[in-house]
Amino acid sequence: MIIAVDGPAASGKGTIARALAARYALPHLDTGLLYRAVGYNLLQTGGDPESEFSALRACDIAQIDFADPELKSEAVGSVASRISAYPAVRRALLERQQRFAAMPGGAVLDGRDIGTVIAPGAEVKLFVTAAPEVRARRRFEELGRLGLNVHYDDVLLDIRARDARDSERAAAPLRQAPDAHLLDTSALGIEEATARAVAIVEAARSGASA
Ligand code: C5P
Repeated sequence: MIIAVDGPAASGKGTIARALAARYALPHLDTGLLYRAVGYNLLQTGGDPESEFSALRACDIAQIDFADPELKSEAVGSVASRISAYPAVRRALLERQQRFAAMPGGAVLDGRDIGTVIAPGAEVKLFVTAAPEVRARRRFEELGRLGLNVHYDDVLLDIRARDARDSERAAAPLRQAPDAHLLDTSALGIEEATARAVAIVEAARSGASA
């Protein structure tokens, strides 16, 4: 079973994807980390985020350390959001993601274009979203817990800018697949959001076997 989980930044899609992977004993890929690894590599090697060619060269990474905390930084996230608009970068990362999705037994992938581009045939598709103010509040609190001194208004501006870049780009924009289930987590805590996601997966499974 392939489960595709898409949605904007801080919508809760990563938490939900991890919970589903644990529940169904499936491998999980946070595809945002691939774009972040490219962004980080670009920064480390002095590349130019404004150049598609430079960004493509930064895709040449032998081994990605998914646990590197640097990948989670706001600076790397911002570069990742820019370079992910380049078609050449998306093409370079496509096969890796499709290979992961094609693992025997299935997989859970989360990102922006899993249900639309990477795994359009996924058995279950979720589009997880929440109001921008709610997502900004979550990100603000998360950064506060990490000891980072940021202003809520700046976080909200960043979330809105990222939403605009992700949904307005020509290459694989953030979009709900027509057959994806919408899960709005604005008024939900983690447990309730996860329970609803599980209910969607269960309904899709029983529908598939009926
Ligand atoms: O999900 P996360 O915030 O870690 O992703 C970082 C950036 O990578 C996003 O802002 C988005 O622009 C890009 N991305 C993408 N397609 C994906 C996953 C992430 O364009 N499947």
